[in-house]
Amino acid sequence: MYVLDYVNNVLWLGVPDLIKGLVLSIVFLFIFKNAIRKHSLIFYIYPGLLFLWYCTYGILNLFNVNLYEMMGETVWWTILWLPHSYALDTVIGIAFILIVMFIGVLPKWEFVRQLYTIRKEMSIIGGLILIGHGVMRLPTMKWAWENMKEMNGFLVFSYAILGVVLLVLIFIPWITSFHFARKRLTPKGWKKLQTYTSVPLMILICVFGIAINLGWGFAILPGFGSSLWDTQTAADGTAVSNLSQGYQVATAFLSAKLYLALMIVYIWLRRKKIKKQSQPVKQVKIQEKTDLVNVN
Ligand code: HEM
Repeated sequence: MYVLDYVNNVLWLGVPDLIKGLVLSIVFLFIFKNAIRKHSLIFYIYPGLLFLWYCTYGILNLFNVNLYEMMGETVWWTILWLPHSYALDTVIGIAFILIVMFIGVLPKWEFVRQLYTIRKEMSIIGGLILIGHGVMRLPTMKWAWENMKEMNGFLVFSYAILGVVLLVLIFIPWITSFHFARKRLTPKGWKKLQTYTSVPLMILICVFGIAINLGWGFAILPGFGSSLWDTQTAADGTAVSNLSQGYQVATAFLSAKLYLALMIVYIWLRRKKIKKQSQPVKQVKIQEKTDLVNVN
């Protein structure tokens, strides 16, 4: 554990979890994209186990059965929570879904084409992790409704309301990615359902990321402002600065800005794509030729 903590700190200290998730997921996808295409089932096993574990934990917890108290801080407990302890689970799920959404609106560059061939597999893996996360967090939602007065508005909005909206919203395109559900719909109906659920999902994930990170930032920094630079005297007489809190606040605010940037870029790319699709085919071809001439 000590070694893992050390490596984690050296690599990621101060880096927003979202960046961590995106970097690890992109590297993973580039190494394993062919294997995922050929043997997708193998790649569903670990996210599937996480899904089962998180759902069991969350549902039992809703009924006041606390597995943590029953198991204690054993080795098993540490292993089961390992991805969560290093803040890897949620953001890897988020990264998979963001990649799926972005390759739908990015120009068809070579790497986009390559990832497109495993789009379904990426949505299934991302969905398993995020639905597991949502079910595991249902007790957090219940707790937020009971303790609203002690929380800031951003946290109430994300924990008590938006989380569960996202849970419903991600479930629909996720379950209809599977063949058994897909074959019950017409191709046109399936496409419509996917677009009408996944686009709001993408935007609301970013809104959630902004709200939760602003909530954490404002919750940690009491009396937001110059108190960050104050020092206090610790029990042993040494001066302790508030800057350690400042580090957490800075990371949270940076994360909120990143989610905002992703949301803006996504909406811009999507509008661009829709505009292009609504142009008559002939005009698009002429436009593409003119672009080529201009580039050359
Ligand atoms: C009842 C429903 C939910 C609640 C109460 C909830 C609550 C939380 C909490 C407490 C965290 C912080 C720590 C962690 O990773 O567990 C978090 C992170 C996050 N969750 Fe949820 N969540 C819910 C469902 C969802 C769903 C379904 C999605 C996406 C489809 C989602 C997206 C996110 C995102 C984007 C983060 C931020 C990760 C980061 O940048 O650090 N949440 N959520």
